[in-house]
Amino acid sequence: MSQPPELFSEADILARVDELAAEISEDYGDKGGIVLVGVLKGAFIFLADLSRRLTIPRRIEFIAVSSYGDKSVSTGAVRLVMDVRGSIEDRHVVIVEDIVDTGHTLSYLIGVLESHRPASIRTCALLCKADAVEVDVEIDYVGFNIGDEWVVGYGLDYAERDRTLPYIGTVEPDDR
Ligand code: IMP
Repeated sequence: MSQPPELFSEADILARVDELAAEISEDYGDKGGIVLVGVLKGAFIFLADLSRRLTIPRRIEFIAVSSYGDKSVSTGAVRLVMDVRGSIEDRHVVIVEDIVDTGHTLSYLIGVLESHRPASIRTCALLCKADAVEVDVEIDYVGFNIGDEWVVGYGLDYAERDRTLPYIGTVEPDDR
């Protein structure tokens, strides 16, 4: 089977993750630590690499939502599948997303996490489809801006395929 063509190599990704971790560590250096909330499933590899590069105290939580199913076009309707388990009250939270496309997921997640009364919420996405954002949502830390293409690997999938590719590649979805 042929492999998806490469958009970002493993080395490109890790170099950028180093930079993001340094930026976040610097920004929160005087705040006594953060809670990273990883969005399942897509962000699990990014979260693992990012969290290990931070130089500040951090706790890890996970949250899970579903919106796309096995399709490549957002329905816009986001559903909470699993909420955070530990308390984030009065803590500084950074949401860690794999990719922002329309922005519906991130905006929904901010609402869910705000209801837990954290001290602050910022957002970090490895990838952002800059032309596709429909919802006005601020992304504080962005790895790479990309065009309107479907990407897989480094945690991202297409109908559960190619999630564990070490690099980020592009695929042509069947439903476009
Ligand atoms: P949004 O709500 O449209 O911003 O979509 C965000 C979610 O859709 C991400 O967390 C991913 O799970 C998924 N997604 C969007 N684009 C892609 C892609 O190109 N590859 C893999 N997953 C994607």
